[in-house]
Amino acid sequence: MSDEIFTGSFTQQEPLPAAAIEAALRVMQTGRLHRYNTAPGELAETALLEQEFAAWMGAKYALAVASGGYALATALRATGVRPGDSVLTNAFTLAPVPGAIASLGAVPVFVGVTEDLVIDLDDLTAKAGSAKVLLLSHMRGHIADMDRLMAIAHAADLVVIEDCAHTMGARWNGVLSGRHGLIGAYSTQTYKHLNSGEGGLLVTDDPEVAAKMTVLSGSYMLYDRHLAAPGPAAFEAVKYHTPNVSGRMDNLRAAVLRPQLAALDRQCARWNDRYRALEAGLGGTPGLRVIERPEKEAYVMSSFQFLLLDWPADRVREVVARAAARGVELKWFGGAEPTGFTSRYDSWRYAPSEPMARTDRVLAGLIDLRLPLTFSLEDCALIARILRDEVGAVYQAAR
Ligand SMILES: Cc1ncc(COP(=O)(O)O)c(C=O)c1O
Repeated sequence: MSDEIFTGSFTQQEPLPAAAIEAALRVMQTGRLHRYNTAPGELAETALLEQEFAAWMGAKYALAVASGGYALATALRATGVRPGDSVLTNAFTLAPVPGAIASLGAVPVFVGVTEDLVIDLDDLTAKAGSAKVLLLSHMRGHIADMDRLMAIAHAADLVVIEDCAHTMGARWNGVLSGRHGLIGAYSTQTYKHLNSGEGGLLVTDDPEVAAKMTVLSGSYMLYDRHLAAPGPAAFEAVKYHTPNVSGRMDNLRAAVLRPQLAALDRQCARWNDRYRALEAGLGGTPGLRVIERPEKEAYVMSSFQFLLLDWPADRVREVVARAAARGVELKWFGGAEPTGFTSRYDSWRYAPSEPMARTDRVLAGLIDLRLPLTFSLEDCALIARILRDEVGAVYQAAR
């Protein structure tokens, strides 16, 4: 065993590209940061971003908003979710997802996770009749069999909203993540594939949903300044009955996002290179299970997960501590208490839940680490060596 130490930061993203910094400066020099504050003939950065994102996603409509969590709540509102309604969602996701459901006074109903880290489609089938909407989280970039999932949803008349906070640019069977369901929702918060600090994006092909989401986001009666919104008739039909729940994106954020969107494919390829470097370094480690990726899935990974399946909690804790001592920051979904960004379905005690044995088994062994683009491929190989050592040491000692 070597004594190599990793000294990189797991939370350090790359600087914004020069074009984004220049665009931000230009917006600040105008003083017109609010998306509807435009000079005569000027097209707002926010409207342009929406137009470019819609084109990139192959969607009819796109809307930029204040955060990914806000995007989820807006999508739920626009599909008519009411206080007290049940909304199906993943047991394995992060707090903003059930939080968006709870923000409407609706009730999350958790669907289990499989060893492949995707929503359990058998459990979904069993629960599909209990709600009208599924808020599907492609948590940590793992995409379920979307063909089967959509068939289950159609059979049960379930509206699907996709939380693509971790799958911007990913595909299932050639179709972009967010384009299977009625609405795709994305986050542009710092740890995601596009970075504006905070921010969210929504796409849909449905004009009524698009008009409602636009008014909800705080368009006042200025929706005709959008470039990726439906025509006036769609707004006429909803404008008196749709509340303004302000959560707009501003021109400064949109300005820094547009150059990043133009480079997204290249950046995603770099992310995947890092993921594969770690995957290659960890493959075959006794006791450690790397997540198998289906052929139909084209992922865009900005993090890495592996399973220490059926390990006792104290040994998993030991691996986490030993890795931390060598500079490798691991997050564990099996901890009894929520810590940092990590929590689990039974941490969200405002939502009712029964213990889910299969899900608990997976979460108890689930380890997660970020892979920011500031890591080189050599860094990833080093992280893999450290993890191999430490997992191996704890595994061997237990035998
Ligand atoms: C899976 C998932 N969904 C939604 C969100 C919400 O995004 P935001 O932080 O932009 O509100 C996050 C944020 O971390 C997330 O991880």
